[in-house]
Amino acid sequence: MAHGLLKGKRGIITGALNEQSIAWKVAQLAHAEGASFVLSNAPVAMRMGEINKLAESTGSKVVPADATNDADLEQLFKEAQAALGGPVDFVLHSIGMSPNVRKGRKYDDLNYEWYKQTLDVSAMSFHRMLQAAHKLNGLSEGASVVALSYIAAQRVFPDYGDMADAKALLESIARGWGYRLGKEKKVRVNTVSQSPTMTTAGAGIKGFDGFFGFAQEMSPLGNAPAEACAAYCISLFSDLTRYVTMQNLFHDGGFSTTGVTPEVMAHFAKSE
Ligand SMILES: NC(=O)c1ccc[n+]([C@@H]2O[C@H](COP(=O)([O-])OP(=O)(O)OC[C@H]3O[C@@H](n4cnc5c(N)ncnc54)[C@H](O)[C@@H]3O)[C@@H](O)[C@H]2O)c1
Repeated sequence: MAHGLLKGKRGIITGALNEQSIAWKVAQLAHAEGASFVLSNAPVAMRMGEINKLAESTGSKVVPADATNDADLEQLFKEAQAALGGPVDFVLHSIGMSPNVRKGRKYDDLNYEWYKQTLDVSAMSFHRMLQAAHKLNGLSEGASVVALSYIAAQRVFPDYGDMADAKALLESIARGWGYRLGKEKKVRVNTVSQSPTMTTAGAGIKGFDGFFGFAQEMSPLGNAPAEACAAYCISLFSDLTRYVTMQNLFHDGGFSTTGVTPEVMAHFAKSE
């Protein structure tokens, strides 16, 4: 049931690759809640053509932008403002990729060129995006910006590799910009630390199904699905959360503060 939470709001949503993408669900829900927005993804991701379906069903324009390219990001904010009729009220950064993780290079054997790409695509892109927005006056007073993160920024998950470092940087960038944009324009900047979710990026991690199952048994509410993550993002874009900023917000069914559960213990208990 829609509540009109984003009625009249304009936004930019990045990272919708296919129907599994968290950004895809955010776009569907933002549309249902009355927002108008521009969709963006890397030019290579456009080749799959999936995003056009989402654009059609939500009445949005697609602007290709490589999140590691400053000119592309400036163009994105220019085109978004032109298409939507003014600066944007919300931005979703839903971008992540590690060549090291993809190609199975472990943390003690990283390819440093790929490591730079991991950091650039998955974290610096967030800084670049906000710098482009800032330069072009692309954010409205009180706008809300959300980037998606993962708990490997705080705790070790060995197979998450160099993405853990990227997420730690991403969360720091949210604080850095959150302070500045908050002072300047009451803009909120937060990261949402999401449960493992079955998407293209998620499935690229070695042993993801084991990872997913463990988190499921360790979370009192179970893993948060992509649709629920979208709902949380919408609440952060809405006017109901005007004083939430510079936070890393766990959206993980309670995983981050659970020590152990009987379900997990049962795997180790000797039978009586
Ligand atoms: N799936 C999970 O388990 C999980 C858990 C926590 C956080 N996250 C985060 O959620 C975000 C979205 O991932 P997802 O799970 O929806 O997977 P996804 O694969 O659907 O989305 C990742 C997106 O990043 C885009 N991208 C990659 N390189 C880019 C570039 N250079 N420029 C612009 N876009 C680029 C891809 O095209 C894709 O749309 C990521 O930041 C991811 O790390 C995912």
